[in-house]
Amino acid sequence: MAQNWTPSSWRDKPISQVPEYPDLAALAATEERLAKFPPLVFAGEARRLKASLANVAEGKGFLLQGGDCAESFAEHGADTIRDFFRAFLQMAVVLTFGAQQPVVKVGRIAGQFAKPRSSGFEKQGDVTLPSYRGDIINGIEFTEEARVPNPERQIMAYRQSAATLNLLRAFAMGGYANLENVNQWMLGFVKDSPQAERYRKLADRISETMDFMKAIGITSENHANLRETDFFTSHEALLLGYEQALTRVDSTSGDWYATSGHMIWIGDRTRQLDHAHVEYCRGIKNPLGLKCGPSLQPDNLIELIDALNPANEAGRLTLICRFGHDKVAENLPRLIRAVEREGKKVIWSCDPMHGNTITLNNYKTRPFERILSEVESFFQIHRSEGTHPGGIHIEMTGNDVTECTGGARALSGDDLADRYHTHCDPRLNADQALELAFLLAERMKGGRDEKRMVVNG
Ligand code: PEP
Ligand code: CO
Repeated sequence: MAQNWTPSSWRDKPISQVPEYPDLAALAATEERLAKFPPLVFAGEARRLKASLANVAEGKGFLLQGGDCAESFAEHGADTIRDFFRAFLQMAVVLTFGAQQPVVKVGRIAGQFAKPRSSGFEKQGDVTLPSYRGDIINGIEFTEEARVPNPERQIMAYRQSAATLNLLRAFAMGGYANLENVNQWMLGFVKDSPQAERYRKLADRISETMDFMKAIGITSENHANLRETDFFTSHEALLLGYEQALTRVDSTSGDWYATSGHMIWIGDRTRQLDHAHVEYCRGIKNPLGLKCGPSLQPDNLIELIDALNPANEAGRLTLICRFGHDKVAENLPRLIRAVEREGKKVIWSCDPMHGNTITLNNYKTRPFERILSEVESFFQIHRSEGTHPGGIHIEMTGNDVTECTGGARALSGDDLADRYHTHCDPRLNADQALELAFLLAERMKGGRDEKRMVVNG
C-alpha cells in the first residue's frame, strides 16, 4: 500500500480548481451520505482493465478513450447513451480492423461531470459571475443563483452515473454489442453520411467472416467474445471530496479503489507533484491517466511517474498527451526520450482536442484538420522514436452536432450555431469521430506494413 496515504490525505495538500461551497456543513453531510452508497464499479473490473492496458503498454493493443467533455443532467437519456455507444463501437470495429490488435474501450462517461476552468469567472456584457464547473458542482445558466456550488448535485451525479452505467452494461453484455449486429449499428447514420458507405463495406466484410466462422462452428452462442464486449468508464478525478466518498477497500486484495469509475485521470491543471490530486491518485489501485500539456518538463514527468507508479507496473499509467498540432513536435520527443531513458512502462495516448481549441464567431471550436494533424504527428513521432502510439483520447458524441469545424462534410464557422450543444468543449460529431477512426486505421495499417518490410529486409 502507498506509504502515509489515506483516502483523505489529499486534504492536507495545496489544491487548485476547488469550488467555493457556501455551506461547508451541507457539503460534509452530502459526502457522508455518498460514502454509504454502493460502489459504482468493482475492484475486479478495474483490475481487468489494468490487465488489458498492460497489453497496450507492451505494444499489443490500442486504447480508445472518448465521450463528452462534460456530461449534463439535462441531456441524460437512453437515446443519447445508445447513440454514443453505437458510434464508439463503430470506431472500435474500424480500429480493430486497422490495428489488427485488441482495442480497449474506455468511455468518458458515467461520471465525467466536474470541469477545471482556466478562469474562475465568466464575463458576459457588464456582468461577471463564477464560472460553470460542471453539473456536479453548479448550473450552466448565467445567473448568480445557478453558479453557486450546490452539494446536492453530487447526489444527482452519482445517481445519473449509476443509471448510465446500468444501460452501458446492458449494451455491452446483453446482446447489442454482438458482432453479428455489426450491420445493425448502421442504423445511426444520418442521411448522406460520408462515412456510411465506408462503414457498410467494412461491416459486410466482418459479416462474411462471421458467416464463415459460423460454418465451422464458432458462433456468438458458444463464444462470449463475439457476443459481449468489455466496456469501461472513466472521468477526471477533479472533485476529490466526491472521489473520497466513493473510495473503498477491496475485500479480496485489501487495496483501496476509486469506485466512481474504472479509470480516472489527473487534468493538466491539477498535476502538481506535491498537490492534492496527485496525492489522492497515488493511493488508489485503478488505472490512472495523466494529462501532459506543453508546460510539462521531462524531469517533472519522471517525478510524477515515480509518485503515481512506483512499482513501474504496465497498465497502471496512461500519459494522455495534449500539446496542440503546432506544439507536439517540440514537446513529445523529449518526454518520450526521458521515459525510455528511465525504462518507465507507460501507455502513450494522444488527446488531439485540448491543445487545438480556438474561438470562431464567438464559439469555442476545434478545426478537424488540426485534430488530425496532431494525431498524425503523434504517430510519426512514435514511429521515429521506436515507441508504441498506444491510444487516442477524444471528446465526441453519437449525435449530429456542429461543434468542431471541418471533416468530410466541411462544417464551417457559420454552421456552428446550428447544433452547438456541448456543456463545455466542442466535440466531434458521430461522422467526424468515425472519419478519424478510418484515418487512424489507415495509419496503423501503414505502420504494420512498414514493420513487415523491415523484418523481411
Ligand atoms: C478535459 O479532458 O476535458 C480537460 C479539461 O483536459 P485537460 O486537463 O487536458 O485540459
Ligand atoms: Co474538455
